[in-house]
Amino acid sequence: MPDVYTLNDLVSREVLDAGEAKPARLAVIGCPIAHSASPGMQQAALDAAGIAARYVRIEVAPGRVGEACERMRALGFIGCNVTVPHKLAVMAACDEVEAAAMTLGAVNTVSFEATLTRGFNTDGPGFVSALADEFGIALAKLKVVILGAGGGAGQALAAQCAMQGVARLVLVNRTVAKLGLLASRLRALAPGCEIQARSFDDPALAETCLASDLLVNTSTVGLLPGEPSILPESCLQAGQLVYDCIYQSARTPLLELAAAKGCRHANGRAMLIHQGALAFQHWFPQSAPLAVMRAALG
Ligand code: ATR
Repeated sequence: MPDVYTLNDLVSREVLDAGEAKPARLAVIGCPIAHSASPGMQQAALDAAGIAARYVRIEVAPGRVGEACERMRALGFIGCNVTVPHKLAVMAACDEVEAAAMTLGAVNTVSFEATLTRGFNTDGPGFVSALADEFGIALAKLKVVILGAGGGAGQALAAQCAMQGVARLVLVNRTVAKLGLLASRLRALAPGCEIQARSFDDPALAETCLASDLLVNTSTVGLLPGEPSILPESCLQAGQLVYDCIYQSARTPLLELAAAKGCRHANGRAMLIHQGALAFQHWFPQSAPLAVMRAALG
């Protein structure tokens, strides 16, 4: 089985499943996709449930997500996960998008049902469950700072926070111009929530962070070796919770700083597992894949 399939493999069952004991019926689509952690978790859940199917990676170039969905549907796929850069574009390929995913502005899970292609978002609910797991907290009434709020992941998690009834939401982005529309959309969504938009060089940022309960990094900063912490030390103090959605590293530079300051902190592993388990449950409604997925990630 190739590590990564392409649209050229989605032409027939003979091509797609050549030499394989089980048919490919689920996938994660994105670009790049080679390093996705989803296949390991999802295949373990399929195997544990005794479902004779493969979960594969498919590299889909920007602009070709509609075609990818059509081909998967025609080949009898059950569904797919969707990652960067397709989470917004795939909405147009769905016949129906659940209301929460519309609010989050992104779809990361697609279900090819008998007559409809349906889109869901499990990143937002996965984030809520991860915070409950890691910190034993609910978002309602918290003061939250979202770092990298202008990116796709940041916008979705900011909207999830607004839906959960946070007391204050501070949107921080390097390119502050990206926050205007999001801030007005979230103000309409959650009129009781105080919403601020700031840049990283805002002189009031440290004070705002220190007066917050939870800081969440949704940006890519900290993913590559040698990158600095997205926030300076002056923004952190004991008593804060710090969540970094990056899961590839046990401790990003932000989390190192959080640990040194005595903050409770966690990386994105629990969110990865919960979003995956929730996706699996959309495809197989009676399943309980969480423990198997957690074990598969090691
Ligand atoms: P996605 O939409 O998949 O989340 P993205 O649009 O590239 O990916 O967003 C990545 C996020 O990381 C953005 O918030 C980006 O900030 P900009 O909107 O200003 O580009 C943020 N980001 C990436 N590199 C950064 C850096 N060196 N410093 C601060 N923020 C950075």
